[in-house]
Amino acid sequence: MYKEATFLKELDEQKNLIETAMKGFLPSEDTFPPIIHQAMHYAIYNGGKRLRPILVLQGAKLAGGNVDDVMAAACAIEMIHAYSLVHDDLPAMDNDDFRRGQPTCHRVYGEANAILTGDALLTEAFAVFCQANAPGENIVRALREMAVAVGSQGMVGGQVLDLAYEGKNISYDDLYRMQQLKTSQLFRASLRVGAILCNMNAKGLEALTRYADEFGFAFQITDDILDISGDVDHLGKPIGSDERNKKTTYVSLFGMEKAQKRVHQSIEECWDALKDFGAEADFLRQLAFYLIKRQS
Ligand code: IPE
Ligand code: IPE
Ligand code: MG
Ligand code: MG
Ligand code: MG
Repeated sequence: MYKEATFLKELDEQKNLIETAMKGFLPSEDTFPPIIHQAMHYAIYNGGKRLRPILVLQGAKLAGGNVDDVMAAACAIEMIHAYSLVHDDLPAMDNDDFRRGQPTCHRVYGEANAILTGDALLTEAFAVFCQANAPGENIVRALREMAVAVGSQGMVGGQVLDLAYEGKNISYDDLYRMQQLKTSQLFRASLRVGAILCNMNAKGLEALTRYADEFGFAFQITDDILDISGDVDHLGKPIGSDERNKKTTYVSLFGMEKAQKRVHQSIEECWDALKDFGAEADFLRQLAFYLIKRQS
């Protein structure tokens, strides 16, 4: 039986693997021009749970592959996630002053440099991704998947809806679609990219897609719950950001209790999606439970 303690240990080990590997992929801080490289390091090495790159490693493992072979893709996805946070915090978006327990990128480096830091992390991620150790055709397929997931029909599209829905009373379907785009797409791409690079079959990919979509939806709900009831010290970002910005969230639409219930329902869905996998998927099963426990 796979215990929670084993899961937490594995979570920590994988986080360390990612952070060590990242050092080899990110241009050093003294690379010319230093200001942008320092800001990129600031945005990456400031904590963070590293869940998306960990999912890349898990996708590879479930496909029977080697995690070292997909480490470049994992780090690339974390770079894209870090870019999305830098831009999400900008005054024109959520206007937040703290991220991962430190002043946000634009507060330290200025707004223009923060925009450029996001641009640089996103662009550099494609160069890093190409260093994955996999057949060329797998790399092209996985790269396309990642690009679409974070573009105008993916994460960026979701962020546009998130802003457009501020102060609005939207339907459940609209909320689901927004969260699917702004949050689930990147989780989905993370799991699938690792699996695609390691030749997973279509049935396996479909199961991972179902898991990731449900995980992403519930992950955003827990983020929105923590924005109300979380502890700033654990969270590392401000409480009440959503209310200040009049965000429409699962919690604002349906209340705290229903939101918590929906997360539990998602965990069951996540488990169901993995029913054809054996013990090799235990980490992902525990990760779904982690949704209700997480405090950051
Ligand atoms: C925050 O993601 C953005 C959302 C999609 C809610 P995380 O909670 O994974 O942020 P870090 O990387 O751990 O800081
Ligand atoms: C998700 O939503 C942000 C991204 C997709 C980048 P939030 O705006 O709620 O994320 P936090 O709470 O600032 O991390
Ligand atoms: Mg936001
Ligand atoms: Mg935000
Ligand atoms: Mg939030």
